[in-house]
Amino acid sequence: MAHLSVTGISKTFGTVPVLVDQSLEVEQGEFVALLGPSGCGKSTLLQIINGLIPADSGRVVLDGEDITGRTGSGRGMVFQGADLFPWRTAIENIAFGLQVKGVGKAERLERARHYLELVGLRGFENAWPHQLSGGMQQRVGIARAFCIQPSLLLMDEPFGALDVQTRDILQDELVRIWEAEPKMVLFVTHGIEEALYLADRILVFSKRPARVLSEIKVPFARPRHDDMKLDPEFLRLRREISELLRHDLEA
Ligand SMILES: Nc1ncnc2c1ncn2[C@@H]1O[C@H](COP(=O)(O)OP(=O)(O)OP(=O)(O)O)[C@@H](O)[C@H]1O
Ligand SMILES: [Mg+2]
Repeated sequence: MAHLSVTGISKTFGTVPVLVDQSLEVEQGEFVALLGPSGCGKSTLLQIINGLIPADSGRVVLDGEDITGRTGSGRGMVFQGADLFPWRTAIENIAFGLQVKGVGKAERLERARHYLELVGLRGFENAWPHQLSGGMQQRVGIARAFCIQPSLLLMDEPFGALDVQTRDILQDELVRIWEAEPKMVLFVTHGIEEALYLADRILVFSKRPARVLSEIKVPFARPRHDDMKLDPEFLRLRREISELLRHDLEA
Protein backbone atom coordinates (compact mmCIF):
# COMPACT_ATOMS: atom_id res chain seq x y z
CA MET A 1 0.00 0.00 0.00
CA ALA A 2 1.31 3.42 -0.93
CA HIS A 3 1.78 5.63 2.08
CA LEU A 4 3.81 8.68 3.04
CA SER A 5 4.70 9.26 6.66
CA VAL A 6 6.61 12.38 7.68
CA THR A 7 7.39 12.53 11.39
CA GLY A 8 9.09 15.01 13.65
CA ILE A 9 10.78 17.08 10.95
CA SER A 10 12.70 20.09 12.25
CA LYS A 11 14.81 22.49 10.23
CA THR A 12 16.63 25.66 11.19
CA PHE A 13 18.40 27.89 8.67
CA GLY A 14 21.12 29.72 10.61
CA THR A 15 19.22 30.88 13.68
CA VAL A 16 15.79 30.86 12.01
CA PRO A 17 13.61 27.88 12.91
CA VAL A 18 11.52 27.10 9.83
CA LEU A 19 10.06 23.71 10.73
CA VAL A 20 9.59 22.48 14.29
CA ASP A 21 8.56 18.88 14.84
CA GLN A 22 6.42 18.79 11.71
CA SER A 23 4.49 15.62 10.89
CA LEU A 24 2.02 14.61 8.20
CA GLU A 25 0.62 11.51 6.55
CA VAL A 26 -0.66 10.91 3.04
CA GLU A 27 -2.70 7.82 2.17
CA GLN A 28 -2.78 5.92 -1.08
CA GLY A 29 -4.44 7.88 -3.87
CA GLU A 30 -4.89 10.95 -1.68
CA PHE A 31 -4.49 14.51 -2.97
CA VAL A 32 -3.33 16.79 -0.15
CA ALA A 33 -2.93 20.55 -0.53
CA LEU A 34 -0.65 22.65 1.67
CA LEU A 35 -1.73 26.25 2.19
CA GLY A 36 0.19 28.78 4.24
CA PRO A 37 1.70 32.26 4.24
CA SER A 38 4.77 33.13 2.23
CA GLY A 39 7.97 32.10 3.96
CA CYS A 40 6.34 29.66 6.41
CA GLY A 41 8.37 26.69 5.20
CA LYS A 42 6.22 24.90 2.60
CA SER A 43 8.92 24.62 -0.06
CA THR A 44 11.46 23.63 2.57
CA LEU A 45 9.20 20.80 3.74
CA LEU A 46 8.67 19.59 0.17
CA GLN A 47 12.38 19.66 -0.55
CA ILE A 48 13.10 17.72 2.63
CA ILE A 49 10.58 15.08 1.50
CA ASN A 50 12.22 15.13 -1.93
CA GLY A 51 15.61 14.62 -0.30
CA LEU A 52 17.18 17.79 -1.71
CA ILE A 53 17.39 19.61 1.64
CA PRO A 54 18.58 17.71 4.73
CA ALA A 55 16.38 17.99 7.83
CA ASP A 56 17.98 18.54 11.26
CA SER A 57 15.81 15.76 12.65
CA GLY A 58 12.83 13.64 11.74
CA ARG A 59 12.01 10.88 9.32
CA VAL A 60 10.45 10.50 5.89
CA VAL A 61 9.05 7.05 5.14
CA LEU A 62 7.60 6.30 1.71
CA ASP A 63 5.85 2.98 1.08
CA GLY A 64 7.51 1.49 4.13
CA GLU A 65 11.02 2.55 3.14
CA ASP A 66 12.98 5.13 5.11
CA ILE A 67 14.04 7.68 2.48
CA THR A 68 15.14 10.43 4.87
CA GLY A 69 17.80 12.56 3.20
CA ARG A 70 17.76 10.51 0.00
CA THR A 71 16.79 11.67 -3.45
CA GLY A 72 15.55 9.41 -6.18
CA SER A 73 12.98 6.74 -6.55
CA GLY A 74 9.34 7.05 -5.71
CA ARG A 75 9.01 10.80 -6.00
CA GLY A 76 8.27 13.13 -8.90
CA MET A 77 8.55 16.89 -8.46
CA VAL A 78 6.96 19.78 -10.34
CA PHE A 79 8.13 23.34 -9.61
CA GLN A 80 6.58 26.75 -10.23
CA GLY A 81 8.71 27.28 -13.31
CA ALA A 82 8.85 24.01 -15.22
CA ASP A 83 12.63 24.03 -14.88
CA LEU A 84 13.22 22.17 -18.13
CA PHE A 85 16.63 21.44 -19.61
CA PRO A 86 16.94 24.04 -22.39
CA TRP A 87 19.19 21.79 -24.46
CA ARG A 88 16.70 18.91 -24.52
CA THR A 89 13.56 18.70 -26.61
CA ALA A 90 10.14 18.25 -24.98
CA ILE A 91 10.22 14.48 -25.35
CA GLU A 92 13.81 14.25 -24.13
CA ASN A 93 12.90 16.31 -21.07
CA ILE A 94 10.00 13.99 -20.29
CA ALA A 95 12.20 10.91 -20.78
CA PHE A 96 15.06 12.26 -18.67
CA GLY A 97 14.16 10.47 -15.43
CA LEU A 98 13.94 7.14 -17.23
CA GLN A 99 17.33 7.77 -18.84
CA VAL A 100 18.82 8.33 -15.39
CA LYS A 101 17.29 5.02 -14.32
CA GLY A 102 19.00 3.32 -17.26
CA VAL A 103 15.85 2.53 -19.26
CA GLY A 104 16.77 1.87 -22.93
CA LYS A 105 16.17 4.56 -25.52
CA ALA A 106 13.31 2.95 -27.44
CA GLU A 107 11.36 2.13 -24.29
CA ARG A 108 11.89 5.47 -22.61
CA LEU A 109 10.83 7.40 -25.72
CA GLU A 110 7.74 5.26 -26.05
CA ARG A 111 6.78 5.89 -22.44
CA ALA A 112 7.60 9.58 -22.72
CA ARG A 113 5.38 9.81 -25.79
CA HIS A 114 2.47 8.36 -23.81
CA TYR A 115 2.79 11.13 -21.20
CA LEU A 116 3.43 13.81 -23.80
CA GLU A 117 0.12 12.88 -25.43
CA LEU A 118 -1.62 12.64 -22.06
CA VAL A 119 -0.78 16.30 -21.38
CA GLY A 120 -1.99 17.31 -24.84
CA LEU A 121 1.34 18.05 -26.50
CA ARG A 122 1.20 15.69 -29.47
CA GLY A 123 3.13 17.29 -32.32
CA PHE A 124 5.54 19.09 -29.99
CA GLU A 125 7.86 16.13 -29.34
CA ASN A 126 10.85 17.87 -30.87
CA ALA A 127 10.14 21.42 -29.74
CA TRP A 128 12.76 23.11 -27.59
CA PRO A 129 11.61 24.58 -24.26
CA HIS A 130 12.08 28.16 -25.50
CA GLN A 131 9.63 27.40 -28.32
CA LEU A 132 6.90 26.47 -25.83
CA SER A 133 4.56 28.80 -23.92
CA GLY A 134 4.68 28.88 -20.12
CA GLY A 135 1.61 26.65 -19.93
CA MET A 136 3.10 24.17 -22.39
CA GLN A 137 6.37 24.08 -20.46
CA GLN A 138 4.40 23.33 -17.32
CA ARG A 139 2.67 20.48 -19.17
CA VAL A 140 6.09 19.06 -20.02
CA GLY A 141 7.05 19.39 -16.34
CA ILE A 142 3.94 17.46 -15.31
CA ALA A 143 4.53 14.78 -17.95
CA ARG A 144 8.15 14.46 -16.80
CA ALA A 145 7.04 13.90 -13.21
CA PHE A 146 4.39 11.32 -14.18
CA CYS A 147 6.77 9.55 -16.59
CA ILE A 148 8.84 8.01 -13.81
CA GLN A 149 5.56 6.65 -12.39
CA PRO A 150 6.25 7.88 -8.88
CA SER A 151 4.32 6.79 -5.85
CA LEU A 152 4.31 10.39 -4.63
CA LEU A 153 3.97 13.56 -6.67
CA LEU A 154 5.37 16.73 -5.05
CA MET A 155 4.08 19.95 -6.60
CA ASP A 156 5.30 23.37 -5.45
CA GLU A 157 2.97 26.07 -6.76
CA PRO A 158 3.03 24.42 -10.19
CA PHE A 159 0.50 26.85 -11.66
CA GLY A 160 1.57 29.92 -9.70
CA ALA A 161 3.26 31.63 -12.64
CA LEU A 162 0.45 31.06 -15.14
CA ASP A 163 -2.41 33.32 -16.20
CA VAL A 164 -5.82 32.51 -14.71
CA GLN A 165 -7.24 30.87 -17.84
CA THR A 166 -4.23 28.61 -18.38
CA ARG A 167 -4.21 27.74 -14.70
CA ASP A 168 -7.88 26.70 -14.76
CA ILE A 169 -7.24 24.51 -17.80
CA LEU A 170 -4.16 22.88 -16.28
CA GLN A 171 -5.97 22.22 -12.98
CA ASP A 172 -8.56 20.19 -14.89
CA GLU A 173 -5.85 18.47 -16.93
CA LEU A 174 -3.94 17.53 -13.80
CA VAL A 175 -7.06 16.00 -12.23
CA ARG A 176 -7.81 14.08 -15.42
CA ILE A 177 -4.29 12.63 -15.57
CA TRP A 178 -4.23 11.93 -11.85
CA GLU A 179 -7.57 10.11 -12.05
CA ALA A 180 -6.18 8.00 -14.89
CA GLU A 181 -3.03 7.23 -12.89
CA PRO A 182 -3.82 7.85 -9.22
CA LYS A 183 -0.97 8.54 -6.87
CA MET A 184 -0.32 10.43 -3.67
CA VAL A 185 0.00 14.18 -4.23
CA LEU A 186 1.36 16.93 -2.01
CA PHE A 187 0.41 20.19 -3.67
CA VAL A 188 1.64 23.55 -2.35
CA THR A 189 -0.44 26.55 -3.31
CA HIS A 190 -1.42 30.05 -2.23
CA GLY A 191 -4.80 29.63 -3.87
CA ILE A 192 -7.56 28.73 -1.41
CA GLU A 193 -9.96 28.05 -4.29
CA GLU A 194 -7.33 25.96 -6.05
CA ALA A 195 -6.81 23.86 -2.91
CA LEU A 196 -10.56 23.34 -2.44
CA TYR A 197 -11.04 22.49 -6.10
CA LEU A 198 -8.20 19.97 -6.32
CA ALA A 199 -7.62 18.37 -2.94
CA ASP A 200 -9.18 15.66 -0.81
CA ARG A 201 -7.65 17.24 2.26
CA ILE A 202 -6.08 20.63 3.02
CA LEU A 203 -3.44 21.36 5.63
CA VAL A 204 -3.44 25.04 6.56
CA PHE A 205 -0.05 26.11 7.90
CA SER A 206 0.71 28.98 10.27
CA LYS A 207 3.37 31.58 9.69
CA ARG A 208 6.97 30.48 10.35
CA PRO A 209 7.78 28.15 12.00
CA ALA A 210 5.00 26.29 10.25
CA ARG A 211 2.52 24.32 12.30
CA VAL A 212 -0.81 22.95 11.17
CA LEU A 213 -3.55 25.44 12.07
CA SER A 214 -6.27 23.31 10.61
CA GLU A 215 -6.87 20.16 8.64
CA ILE A 216 -9.85 20.32 6.35
CA LYS A 217 -11.44 17.35 4.63
CA VAL A 218 -12.85 18.63 1.35
CA PRO A 219 -16.41 17.28 1.20
CA PHE A 220 -17.04 17.53 -2.54
CA ALA A 221 -17.46 14.40 -4.67
CA ARG A 222 -15.42 13.74 -7.80
CA PRO A 223 -15.51 14.42 -10.65
CA ARG A 224 -15.62 18.05 -9.66
CA HIS A 225 -16.99 20.81 -11.83
CA ASP A 226 -16.50 24.54 -11.99
CA ASP A 227 -19.96 25.18 -10.59
CA MET A 228 -18.88 23.77 -7.22
CA LYS A 229 -17.20 27.15 -6.71
CA LEU A 230 -20.72 28.58 -6.27
CA ASP A 231 -21.78 25.96 -3.73
CA PRO A 232 -22.56 27.56 -0.33
CA GLU A 233 -20.35 24.98 1.40
CA PHE A 234 -17.46 25.89 -0.93
CA LEU A 235 -17.93 29.59 -0.15
CA ARG A 236 -18.13 28.84 3.57
CA LEU A 237 -14.89 26.83 3.55
CA ARG A 238 -13.16 29.48 1.46
CA ARG A 239 -14.10 32.14 4.00
CA GLU A 240 -13.13 29.92 6.95
CA ILE A 241 -9.65 29.28 5.55
CA SER A 242 -9.14 32.88 4.56
CA GLU A 243 -10.03 34.06 8.08
CA LEU A 244 -7.83 31.41 9.65
CA LEU A 245 -4.83 32.63 7.66
CA ARG A 246 -5.59 36.28 8.35
CA HIS A 247 -5.98 35.78 12.10
CA ASP A 248 -2.72 33.87 12.24
CA LEU A 249 -0.84 36.62 10.40
CA GLU A 250 -2.31 39.28 12.70
CA ALA A 251 -1.58 37.31 15.88
N1 LIG B 1 18.68 27.76 1.71
C1 LIG B 1 18.21 28.60 2.62
N2 LIG B 1 19.04 29.29 3.45
C2 LIG B 1 18.56 30.11 4.40
N3 LIG B 1 17.26 30.35 4.60
C3 LIG B 1 16.38 29.69 3.83
C4 LIG B 1 16.80 28.80 2.80
N4 LIG B 1 15.69 28.30 2.20
C5 LIG B 1 14.64 28.87 2.82
N5 LIG B 1 15.03 29.71 3.79
C6 LIG B 1 14.17 30.47 4.70
O1 LIG B 1 13.22 29.56 5.24
C7 LIG B 1 11.94 30.17 5.33
C8 LIG B 1 10.92 29.29 4.61
O2 LIG B 1 11.18 29.32 3.22
P1 LIG B 1 10.30 28.48 2.20
O3 LIG B 1 10.85 28.72 0.86
O4 LIG B 1 10.19 27.09 2.68
O5 LIG B 1 8.89 29.21 2.39
P2 LIG B 1 7.52 28.97 1.59
O6 LIG B 1 6.49 28.64 2.60
O7 LIG B 1 7.73 28.01 0.49
O8 LIG B 1 7.22 30.43 1.03
P3 LIG B 1 6.56 30.89 -0.38
O9 LIG B 1 5.08 30.67 -0.18
O10 LIG B 1 6.91 32.32 -0.49
O11 LIG B 1 7.13 30.04 -1.46
C9 LIG B 1 12.10 31.57 4.78
O12 LIG B 1 12.26 32.43 5.87
C10 LIG B 1 13.36 31.52 3.98
O13 LIG B 1 14.03 32.74 4.00
MG1 LIG C 1 7.71 28.19 -1.57
